[in-house]
Amino acid sequence: MSETARLIIDGKEYELPMFTGSANEKAIDITKLRDLTGCVTLDSGYKNTGAAKSAITYLDGEEGKLWYRGYPIEQIAEYGSFLEVAYLLIYGDLPTEKELRYFTESISHHTLVHEDMKRFYEAYPTHAHPMGVLSSMIASMSTFYPESQNPNNFKDIELTIHRLMAKMPTLAAQAFKVSIGHPIIYPKNAYSYTQNFLHMMFALPTFEYEIDPVIDDALNKLLILHADHEQNCSTSTVRMVGSSQSNLYSSISAGIAALWGPLHGGANQAVIEMLERIKNDGGNVAKFVEKAKDKNDPFRLMGFGHRVYKNFDPRARIIKKSCDDVLNKLGIHDPVLDIAKQLEEVALQDPYFVERKLYPNVDFYSGIIYRAIGIPTEMFTVMFALGRLPGWVAQWKEMVEQGEPIGRPRQIYTGHDLRDYVPIAKRG
Ligand code: SDX
Repeated sequence: MSETARLIIDGKEYELPMFTGSANEKAIDITKLRDLTGCVTLDSGYKNTGAAKSAITYLDGEEGKLWYRGYPIEQIAEYGSFLEVAYLLIYGDLPTEKELRYFTESISHHTLVHEDMKRFYEAYPTHAHPMGVLSSMIASMSTFYPESQNPNNFKDIELTIHRLMAKMPTLAAQAFKVSIGHPIIYPKNAYSYTQNFLHMMFALPTFEYEIDPVIDDALNKLLILHADHEQNCSTSTVRMVGSSQSNLYSSISAGIAALWGPLHGGANQAVIEMLERIKNDGGNVAKFVEKAKDKNDPFRLMGFGHRVYKNFDPRARIIKKSCDDVLNKLGIHDPVLDIAKQLEEVALQDPYFVERKLYPNVDFYSGIIYRAIGIPTEMFTVMFALGRLPGWVAQWKEMVEQGEPIGRPRQIYTGHDLRDYVPIAKRG
């Protein structure tokens, strides 16, 4: 039975169709609302607006559930490899051994970037933030591969997907090496995806970086946990840019720019900066919890709260456990981890946070592991982007395959009524 929603406007009743998804989520389909009623909806920040029907990721914010193509994140993070999960998100199913081998070998084949791209680094300021570099370099890839312009050419898009998966880690590591004045380290395709990234980040021409399996496993888990998260800010940006039939490189570049914000992926860098600030201020956690509650104080607890999760972010649970494991196995005692745990304990007992259902999110603990791995704070959001890449690609591909129309929201005008031009001699 197809349900309907009834709306009464100025005494007139309208019926709108409803849509129910495969997890029983219900939506009022307002596709014809303006034609029917002359009205549009208003929903600042799209807190109540579904922008897409998607089969990729399912979130239940109340229950703290996260599924990639139906598989729970707990199992995926425990047993999966990042490229296996990337394949699952992009193509819809876990790959067979043969499919994973082809995907892995194809990506290995494309890990080098065009030598001319190194010249860009000569123009960036030495301490350019790597997110600004990465976003620009990914957009520039569209100029090196002009054949990637047509989003409906399956063969070209497939090659573009593999090039993006292969080259983004190389570009990310290059941005880091250049920022510290080290020579760029080329990929070694005998390594796995995560091992290659660690090699490019930490090896030197004079020194072969020995890959610690504990670090490699932690990186694999972190990339998996960040791989997709339905219609978040950066993914919605990727879909919006792609909806104009802009190429995949430009759409991903826009997603990187959106992720950079401290309210989104930039939070992992902001969390560590916040924890360091609390530590340097004497470690008075309660003082900063009070600041976060004070409406006159712009300070917020970074890594806390979420638009969708009104329960624990399941990724935060997994990362918190991994945090303890990695630091114990590496024999590292990081004082900011102690502060993070104190902060979590104090905040989760405070009515302000309990009433607003503000829990630690994916960004709260991830930076502590990145730090333990030896990744500098400014590279934390780049790590988030490396993890989120397959999710962005999967969502962009789904949007193209669905034949979605160009995104173009409406508005309600609140400006001046019609008025005549005033010559400058007659103005105020
Ligand atoms: C990510 O969307 C995704 O899926 C994102 C992500 C992904 O995987 O793509 O999960 C990744 O971006 C995680 C979030 C990382 N950001 C942060 O950690 C920054 C700190 N968090 C907040 O800025 C905030 O919680 C947001 C942005 C995450 C969510 O904001 P909302 O949903 O718009 O909620 P809101 O700002 O309307 O807050 C509701 C209330 C407000 O108080 P009242 O006006 O009701 O009195 O909660 C308060 C807010 O002031 N609040 C906080 C707070 N977060 C919300 N107060 C103090 N500290 C915080 N962190």
